[in-house]
Amino acid sequence: MSGFSRIFSSTVFTWLAVWSVVVASDRRDMPLRTLAADRFLIGAAINVPQAEGRDAVAMNLISRHFNTVTPENILKWEKVHPEPERYDFGPVDRLLEVTESQGILLIGHTLVWHQQTPRWVFKSASGEPMDRDALLERLRAHITAVVGRYKGRIGGWDVVNEAFEDDGTVRKTPWSQIIGEDFIAKAFEFAHQADPDAELYYNDYNLWKPAKRDAAARLVRQLLDRGVPVDGIGEQGHWLINDPPLDLIEAAIVPFGKLGVKVVITELDVDPLPRPRELMGADLSKRPELRQSLDPYREGLPDAVQQELAQRYGDIFRLFVKHADKIARVTFWAVTDANTWLNNFPFRGRTNHPMLWDREGKPKPAFDAVIKALSGK
Ligand code: XIL
Repeated sequence: MSGFSRIFSSTVFTWLAVWSVVVASDRRDMPLRTLAADRFLIGAAINVPQAEGRDAVAMNLISRHFNTVTPENILKWEKVHPEPERYDFGPVDRLLEVTESQGILLIGHTLVWHQQTPRWVFKSASGEPMDRDALLERLRAHITAVVGRYKGRIGGWDVVNEAFEDDGTVRKTPWSQIIGEDFIAKAFEFAHQADPDAELYYNDYNLWKPAKRDAAARLVRQLLDRGVPVDGIGEQGHWLINDPPLDLIEAAIVPFGKLGVKVVITELDVDPLPRPRELMGADLSKRPELRQSLDPYREGLPDAVQQELAQRYGDIFRLFVKHADKIARVTFWAVTDANTWLNNFPFRGRTNHPMLWDREGKPKPAFDAVIKALSGK
């Protein structure tokens, strides 16, 4: 190599190296929502202290990085409608004031679920079990009151949550047992009547399991065929650091795209703690005893696992970028490791590390990996 070309190539090399560091650090300073802007919305679940301004760390991250939030609990039946004649809309009203002032879109979670629903819902005033017509009327009244109140202000609703078992059969809950399987279609119709412009989703976990995915796809097809308004499928996305394999996640995105509905990743987190296989997913009825070996990172996530988590988040977001034509939104189910539900699920009282920011709100390598993936790297 001549002296000139040596100087030339080393100059080019140095310049390229500096340039890539500048670009990378620039990107690191860019909000996630800006990097994802022409692909999908980026959201986070928000809890009550955050919504009420008592968690400045999380609120700063929300304002900066997210263009949509989903209240973690305050729109669930037990919170918003705790007694037959009493709705508690205050917390949602206050949250909306904050999100609307910042141009953040609010998503409603959730109208019909077998969890976090008071027992009285399924009983008559005299304490008798309800019949189909009475329960349908109660469901209609609830949906009309809640969706109607926020008409034009809440952009989309998880209308029905977790109606299927992992094997694809309809879950036996008071909803399916008292009303029958058409409680799903009815809920979508009631929601559409209450706000014709809101997007309506069917939401579930473990949709990467083929039997459950196929059941959800069949449901969506039947609803569409019958003219029931369904806009999208919500894939919760409670995944582990090493499971499910990426090809199964992909196989649960593609068919819904083909059906012509939006795919929404509604509750993303990546759990790096050990989890017995039968506890995959998000079945809240399973609460086993904690053993110490299942809580190995109380003092912090070791570097090697930190890198593994970053790699996994990078892989997941490269997949999302690849299928950005089908995916309308990606919502994380917390902001930082300090407030994720995975500190208490499926075992209570663990120290978990599934989010992009640590307990102090500092970005982790997983954050950089997501930035990189959204930058097309
Ligand atoms: C969880 C919340 O994060 C917790 O605060 C609450 O105690 C239990 O519910 N699937 C869902 C969410 O659809 O509503 C659940 O949220 C997590 C699993």
